[in-house]
Amino acid sequence: MSEANRDKRITLAWTGASGAPYGLRLLECLLAANYHVYLLVSSAARVVLATEHGLKLPAGPDAAKATLVKHLGCAPEGLEVCGKEDWFSPVASGSAAPKQMVICPCSAGTLASVAHGLSDNLLERAADVVLKERGQLLMVVRETPFSTLHLENMLKLSQMGATIMPAAPGFYHQPASIDDLVDFMVARILDHLGVEQGLVPRWGYDQRK
Ligand SMILES: Cc1cc2nc3c(=O)[nH]c(=O)nc-3n(C[C@H](O)[C@H](O)[C@H](O)COP(=O)(O)O)c2cc1C
Repeated sequence: MSEANRDKRITLAWTGASGAPYGLRLLECLLAANYHVYLLVSSAARVVLATEHGLKLPAGPDAAKATLVKHLGCAPEGLEVCGKEDWFSPVASGSAAPKQMVICPCSAGTLASVAHGLSDNLLERAADVVLKERGQLLMVVRETPFSTLHLENMLKLSQMGATIMPAAPGFYHQPASIDDLVDFMVARILDHLGVEQGLVPRWGYDQRK
């Protein structure tokens, strides 16, 4: 990869919280925006993806990539699926990792692991690296209700610089479909990342027309 493209790299992690369609749509948008995406998928995320979206993602990174490329109809170049213990991946080191990472959806389990720096697999390590390098970590947490422990973990991560974005779509854009609700969340995530998007009307602009 050329140096010029290095700033268009991002780490995307899918974990086992409900909300697989958010993760898929976000991947689609990042690839469409010409990002090089390092994708990390937990075992539980694969179960949720099959349950909520009917998409069976193989455990092996190469097979998972082939399945996603076919499913999304995207070019293969921008997508790099990383193995759970691929410690030689760029995302495992502050010397090479992208400065931005999104965990979407983010389970309460991964929230806890990241809050306590466990780094027990590549996904947790990648988040730890972004935090220590003072990069941008967005965590799209999904659980309800939140326990005191969940709230404490979110507070701890927020104080460390992570952005906690609960998967809580609004309804003021009058969604007509599930896709509209998914796009609401994905639009907010892309806005935070600084990725141009036109998925939903912006507050105060389109309403006034
Ligand atoms: C269909 C399904 C939905 C789930 N939804 C959630 C959820 O919304 N939030 C959550 O924190 N855990 C949820 N879980 C439980 C997590 O997947 C489980 O705690 C898992 O160990 C998380 O592992 P991970 O963080 O490594 O992905 C769900 C599990 C399944 C199978």
